[in-house]
Amino acid sequence: MNLNCERSLSLWMATVPEHQAQPLATNGQADVAVVGSGIAGLSIAYELCREGQSVIVLDRGALARGMTARTSAHLASALDDFYHKLIDLRGLDEARHYLHSQVAALDRVDRIQATEEIDCDFRRLDGYLFAASDDDGSILEREIGACHSLGFSGVAWDALPVAEVGPERRCLRFPEQARFHPLKYLNGLIRCVERDGGRLYAETPVVSVEEKGGEAIVRTRNGYEIRARAAVIATNSPINDWIAIHTKQAPYRTYVIAVRIPSASVVDALYWDTLDPYHYVRLQPLDAEHDWLIVGGEDHKTGQADDQRDRITRLTEWAKAHFPQMSDPEYAWSGQVMEPVDHLAYIGRNPGNENIFVVTGDSGEGLSNGVAGSLILRDLILKRDNAWAGVYQPNRISISAAGEYISENLTMPASLAEHFTGGELSSVDELKPGDGGLVRRGAAKLAAYRDDGGELHVRSATCTHAGCVVHWNGFERCWDCPCHGSHFSVDGEPLNAPAFKPLAAAHE
Ligand SMILES: Cc1cc2nc3c(=O)[nH]c(=O)nc-3n(C[C@H](O)[C@H](O)[C@H](O)COP(=O)(O)OP(=O)(O)OC[C@H]3O[C@@H](n4cnc5c(N)ncnc54)[C@H](O)[C@@H]3O)c2cc1C
Ligand code: FES
Repeated sequence: MNLNCERSLSLWMATVPEHQAQPLATNGQADVAVVGSGIAGLSIAYELCREGQSVIVLDRGALARGMTARTSAHLASALDDFYHKLIDLRGLDEARHYLHSQVAALDRVDRIQATEEIDCDFRRLDGYLFAASDDDGSILEREIGACHSLGFSGVAWDALPVAEVGPERRCLRFPEQARFHPLKYLNGLIRCVERDGGRLYAETPVVSVEEKGGEAIVRTRNGYEIRARAAVIATNSPINDWIAIHTKQAPYRTYVIAVRIPSASVVDALYWDTLDPYHYVRLQPLDAEHDWLIVGGEDHKTGQADDQRDRITRLTEWAKAHFPQMSDPEYAWSGQVMEPVDHLAYIGRNPGNENIFVVTGDSGEGLSNGVAGSLILRDLILKRDNAWAGVYQPNRISISAAGEYISENLTMPASLAEHFTGGELSSVDELKPGDGGLVRRGAAKLAAYRDDGGELHVRSATCTHAGCVVHWNGFERCWDCPCHGSHFSVDGEPLNAPAFKPLAAAHE
């Protein structure tokens, strides 16, 4: 199981069939074992297979049905956290390396989809960052200055091509951005990896990754192991790290709707505004008369809100105000992004390991980070130089981001303290069909859910990653951990890393 089993369905999941793959049923050996089949894992597998490496990919659920199936799929070299902030935190040189790696990632996707003939609706287009209000113009002034200082010289002032906002609203145009259908692209990568001899296994949860005698040993829940020269942990949030990387990034839930809109009534571009959290918008071709308009936003820290329906309503109202020609939402879904404290992903050797590599900290740019990660990890594994590797080093400590680090890490003590407070419910009898909630039983906190048929499902509420208390997510009908972003099914099965063990069994 993985995020495929959460309740909502993205536009992408609804329009592309799952690639069928068998579970691992024997021990194996390869040059490289890749854990996770999202944009990061499959891009790395693709690059290594092209280099003649033997590669095994393992996924705990269906292939390509993790967070990449729940994205909005803007491919941007613009930085959603802003280049002027990145320069303040990391300096001009590192920001320039970051920009170059993101441009290279977009170019790589462009080239792969063209040369491999992956029909994935890829298109180069402009991105528009617009001030959410007249007061936010100064943010854009700082951003264009930062972009030009990095050599991102095509960034220019422009009129926002959205009639309802008005031409006087300040707006920056970023050239050479892109969009695609993420699952059509991933299915194309799977085809290429299989063609090049890569072996892919679904429904194969990995439960340990160890380095021994120069080898990486990857063990699965069904008792098999893969021995490899190197292992890449591309599980979105690393399963092999108990705490070090997890203190440097924080999980946020984000929401998306897809609505029909008359073709050509909106300029085909990427759009996002200056709010925090910001709105993000793009189009996806549908048929001769309509396009899909995809609108996202309303983010909150994972596990700290259960008003998802209100958030979807607010998102729809915002979309209607900006694009009144749209119809009602046909798809509404949620996902999670990992926000690193200093804005940049963690890509490279896992701290303390020589042959185990991680890619995480995706932020709202996880697609281009996943692809940049495939170029960086390919070079590190093949012992080549890579100019961008230093910028993304997972063991880095950003002193200048100490404030953000401290504030994000207040979540864990607060969550652990919840073990000693009362439950949300005094009795499970209060649960209506379809509802979940926390209940105290003696020293334990239990996660209780009543299904639509009235049957009760009870598990321990203690997250199996590092012990925080999980919270009910009524929209996705799952349990979310506020500390580092694990999600669990109502039967306790992990759906999203870093946890890989189920919530313990419990009885009411
Ligand atoms: C709503 C939303 C909008 C977004 N918009 C954008 C955007 O516009 N642009 C952008 O660049 N990024 C965006 N992002 C971020 C981006 O989509 C993600 O960062 C990216 O897709 C993550 O890819 P990944 O390969 O790291 O993880 P995933 O796609 O989650 O892949 C990880 C895989 O690892 C598997 N796995 C986990 N644990 C185990 C285990 N123990 N054993 C085996 N397998 C395991 C999972 O099943 C999963 O298939 C958005 C994200 C969301 C949710
Ligand atoms: S995800 Fe780390 S404690 Fe739950």
